[in-house]
Formats: sequence, C-alpha cells, structure tokens
Amino acid sequence: MSSIMERFTEKFRKSAELYEQAGDVIPGGGHQSRVVHPFPVFVNEAEGAVKVDADGNELIDYLMGFGALLLGHAHPTVTDAVAQRLRKGTHMGTTSTLEIRWAELVRSLIPSAEKVRFTASGTESTLLALRLARGHTGKKKLVKFREHFHGWHDYVSPQSGINSQVGIPEESMSTVCVLEPDVAEVERFLSEDTDVAAVIVEPTGGHWGQFPVQNPKFLQDLREVTARHGVVMIMDEVICGFRLSRGGAQARYGVTPDLTTMAKIVAGGLPGGAVAGREEIMDQMGTSDPNRRLAHPGTFNANPVSATAAIATLETIADQPINDQADAAAERLKQGLRDALKKMETPGHVHGVASIVHVALGVECDCPGEMCTQPHDRLAQGTAQALSQPLKLAMLNEGVDMMGGIGFMVSAVHSSEDVDRTAEAFERSLAALRGEQVI
Ligand SMILES: Cc1ncc(COP(=O)(O)O)c(C=O)c1O
Repeated sequence: MSSIMERFTEKFRKSAELYEQAGDVIPGGGHQSRVVHPFPVFVNEAEGAVKVDADGNELIDYLMGFGALLLGHAHPTVTDAVAQRLRKGTHMGTTSTLEIRWAELVRSLIPSAEKVRFTASGTESTLLALRLARGHTGKKKLVKFREHFHGWHDYVSPQSGINSQVGIPEESMSTVCVLEPDVAEVERFLSEDTDVAAVIVEPTGGHWGQFPVQNPKFLQDLREVTARHGVVMIMDEVICGFRLSRGGAQARYGVTPDLTTMAKIVAGGLPGGAVAGREEIMDQMGTSDPNRRLAHPGTFNANPVSATAAIATLETIADQPINDQADAAAERLKQGLRDALKKMETPGHVHGVASIVHVALGVECDCPGEMCTQPHDRLAQGTAQALSQPLKLAMLNEGVDMMGGIGFMVSAVHSSEDVDRTAEAFERSLAALRGEQVI
C-alpha cells in the first residue's frame, strides 16, 4: 500500500508542477497560510461546499475562505448582487448609500456597535482599534494573550503562533505585553502598570478556539477588570462575528466590549473589515477638534463591491436560519468524528463552538466539547505539526480540505452527506496515520 505522501504527490501532481512555477515568481511559492508541505493544492474554482483543484479533484472544503464564507462558495444571492454591482462601477471615490446600509446592518446585529467604521482587512481592524484605544486613553501599551492571533501588524505579532519577529522594531515590541488568558494575571498586571490602553482577546481562545479560554466567565471577568481599570476591551470577532451567533461571541455570551474588530463574514467573503464600538471612542474619527481627531484613510475602505457582498450576506444571516444550519452541520460533524475515533480506538478529542470544530489527537477530555478544558500545552501536543501535517495530507487524499489539519470551518451549505463523507474520510485517514505509526 502506498504511503500518505506517495498518494498525495500522485493525486495532486499538477499542483506540484504549479508550485515549482509559483516559486519562480512568488517568494515562498504563495501566500504563507496557503502553502503547506510538500506543496500546496492549487484551486481556482468552488461552489457551495466543494472546490475543484488543478488536477480536477473535488474537495469538500472546510477552510471556507479562512472562515469568511459562512454561506458557502459562490452563494447565488451574493454572487448576483456583486455581478450587478460590477457593471455599475467598482470605486466612486466617494461615500455611498451602500456604506450607510452596511454600517446599519452591523449595528443592528452586533451589540457593542454604537458606531461602525470600515477597513480593508482584519489586520487593519485590529490596528485601528488599538490606535483608537491609545487615542482615547492617552496610554501606550497593549495587553494580548499567548497564541491569540489578531493579524500581522507589529503590535499583535508577539507570541501569536504565526508571525515572526523579523522586521519589527524593539520599540514597538516593548509596548506589547503578552499574558496567559487568566483574569487574575490580567488584574495583577493592570494594578501594577498604569500605561495600558487596551486588552485584546480572541473570544473563543487562541487560533479560533484551538486553545479555548475554557469558559465564557473568562470574558465576563475580563470585561469587569478592564472596565474597573479604565482599559479599553477589544473583542476580536474577525472569526467569531456573525458565526458564534448572528451577533457574534458578544451576543452569545452577553459580554459587551468597548471595541469590536471584524473582517471575513462582515465583508461578505470579499476583502474588508470593520471596527465598531462605543460612540465616544469611535467619534475620534468624526470630531473636528484637531487635538482629538484620529485620521483613518484607506483606498478600499467600504468599497462598493465589498459593501454589496457584505449587505447581501448580512441580510441573509439576519433573515434566515443560517447560523442554525451551520451549527447543526458542525454538531453532526463533531459526532461523526467522535464515532470515527471510537471505532478506530484512537484517543482524541473533538471540541469547538457553534460552526467551529477542532480535533486534538491523543487528547482525552470529559468536557461537553465546546470550550475544551484541557490545558493549553496538552492541546498543543494534540495539534502539533507532527500530527496535523500528516492528517491534513491524509484528509486531502480522501477528498477533504481541513484548516491546517487541526479543525474545520463549517458553513450553512455543508450537507449531511458532505459531513458524513468527511467523517468517513477521517476514519480512513486515521487508519493511514496508524499505518505510518503517526498515532
Ligand atoms: C481573530 C483574527 N483576527 C485578525 C485576523 C486578521 O485578519 P486578516 O487576515 O483579514 O488581516 C485574523 C485572520 O485570520 C483572525 O483570525
């Protein structure tokens, strides 16, 4: 029987050739998060839950635009709206009624959104939120948590699990304090350091919940501590917004931050992001007082094409049981994966909130399977590259594209059949991993 790697190089032969070609013109051969070892799969087309790669292989997709596509690929409502928009012009260089409608929709769904401003990405959203917090408080430092990812700008790069420190000045790094997601530690820190402008948090925990914050009380306590110390609480809902519920993590857990950062679903799966929050903080971008005014330019902020996709997407989420559908598919997937682990007598744990599903091999836990209560280091072992890399390839061999070999972004268009086929693929992948003594 051929190995996982042999099957992979055989099945995705055309992608291997394209990777050679890409390396000639693109450093690293492509976008960092899309390139996997030994080579990435090249895909140009997708519809619903399925994408078709350069070799003609059909893959059930669980990257879903890195979480941007809660409605699935090429959703007809979004696609039709964008197609019409393209014919009417893509950039007027002015504000538009689309921008107002988009902002009103965000405000109607996201509890903390008294005012809304659009950016071109999640990274820009967290950068803007931090600048707003610094402007508002007159303080300098940012507290972030270990392994919480907020994009790639200098201030959120330390210990994010993805970024390196190359090219980041010491001076910028010295304004960032990385803590464990432990409210007692935050309390201690804020009591000693009075120069903290903001605390930023991924509400389900680091890496879309790979390292869960363990319970919603963490967010409630963080809210209380930051409010007491006059520190701006930034909830980074780039992944969770409109996914954990229509109103994101904040509506699901009843915790209202001062500022919320968004991207991905908020822009209907097209490039774009948003910052929303308390009027007195947001109005730094509206005031005519030159001493308070925070400038926020950006060529593609609130551009009509992203705005159109966003409006179509957010209206669909507001009007239809999209979250229920995605959550139900994820629940079925979780059960299918658990059954496969059991059948294969493989230790492993499946957890995740709403339509997010994580797998940690070799980890056992008797938590209900939402925010897993195993310690960070234990979950890190269960999702280490030595496991996740072969799992990712084995699943691709079986026609399923997982997020990094550690989990699944489920959408409203993953059918029961897709999910059941995924669980079967997982079972066969476990057999392949066992055959190579990976597990
Ligand atoms: C929680 C979180 N914040 C911020 C970002 C950065 O967003 P973008 O990739 O749009 O810059 C991401 C990207 O995955 C994210 O997951």
